[in-house]
Amino acid sequence: MKTRILVTGGTGYIGSHTVVELQNNGYEVIIVDNLSNSSANVVDNIEKVSGIRPHFEKLDCCDLSGMDAMFTKYKGIKAVIHFAASKAVGESVQKPLMYYRNNIVSLINILDLMPKHGVDGIVFSSSCTVYGQPSKENLPVTESAPLQPAESPYGNTKQINEEIIQDTVKSGSPITSILLRYFNPIGAHPSALIGELPNGVPMNLVPFITQTAMGIRKELSIFGDDYNTPDGSCIRDYINVVDLAKAHVVAIDRILKQKQLEKVEFFNLGTGKGLSVLELVKTFEEVTGVKVNHKIVGRRAGDIEQVWANPDKANNVLGWKAECTTEETLESAWNWQKKLRELGIQ
Ligand code: UFG
Repeated sequence: MKTRILVTGGTGYIGSHTVVELQNNGYEVIIVDNLSNSSANVVDNIEKVSGIRPHFEKLDCCDLSGMDAMFTKYKGIKAVIHFAASKAVGESVQKPLMYYRNNIVSLINILDLMPKHGVDGIVFSSSCTVYGQPSKENLPVTESAPLQPAESPYGNTKQINEEIIQDTVKSGSPITSILLRYFNPIGAHPSALIGELPNGVPMNLVPFITQTAMGIRKELSIFGDDYNTPDGSCIRDYINVVDLAKAHVVAIDRILKQKQLEKVEFFNLGTGKGLSVLELVKTFEEVTGVKVNHKIVGRRAGDIEQVWANPDKANNVLGWKAECTTEETLESAWNWQKKLRELGIQ
């Protein structure tokens, strides 16, 4: 019998890619998603990619009794990967209570129900946002860099979630956990059957680039060229979403094989390479041969100037490494955008 893994938010961007990788590695997946920012036909597309249909329950993780019934229905779940969360930084400033409720109550419910249903392991989606702007001597940033006060309610929910998991473990709960701090996930599955589907005007850079290249948006605004970086634009660590997804399989294997050194482990998931906004746009144009109209505008409030990962711990301890080049990744993002056009979606 295959080992059952619960993936909350499994029809979302990173979730859907992770479900495919789990299935490719012999796991049986149960997806729980309230479809607030994704659609049920992602389940069909996951099946097209992996050849296996995951179980799917349309359910909100904030619904304690619904989640309880789900764990009872799918007996024997061995571990949870908890992606389900609201994730738009700007929206979180407008609707803080919605963010605190969605992102915190859902985790509390899951941690509460896990021991009751004999589930010990949880992999949690955290973010490099917890580091804020690291000082120059802390770049590239390691897991031991000091955390900074969050810039937004969204960022604060990630910090609070990390604390909730640590406090729960300290209290003697049987739970073991791996907290994955993602840098900037981009790109899509090479099949172009799953990818990122932003709601409305994209907030993130790469969907905005691909939509501009497609002619859906007139022009990309580059938020600032007066930062203290070589070309003046912000620097990030852009990581391929399939590489990121694979790290979750490694984390699940590690939990299930009880290889953890501590009951709460933290890992940065990045490439180790910082790229500026202008460099990323240029690379996209080179790879695709398509021009991206852009203009420089003022800085975006709350942006970090520069952050990229030191991924040594994930490389050495997890044995995981980001493999895809930026070129391959941007090409996959472009192929996905072209597929959306073919389907008449965007
Ligand atoms: N940018 C532009 N123009 C755009 C969009 C973005 O110039 O239209 C720039 C931003 O100013 C930033 C870079 O592109 O310098 C990347 O911006 P994203 O919005 O793609 O990503 P962020 O680094 O701001 O944020 C991401 C996630 C957050 C997460 C954060 C840190 O969107 O959810 O990383 O983990 F909190």
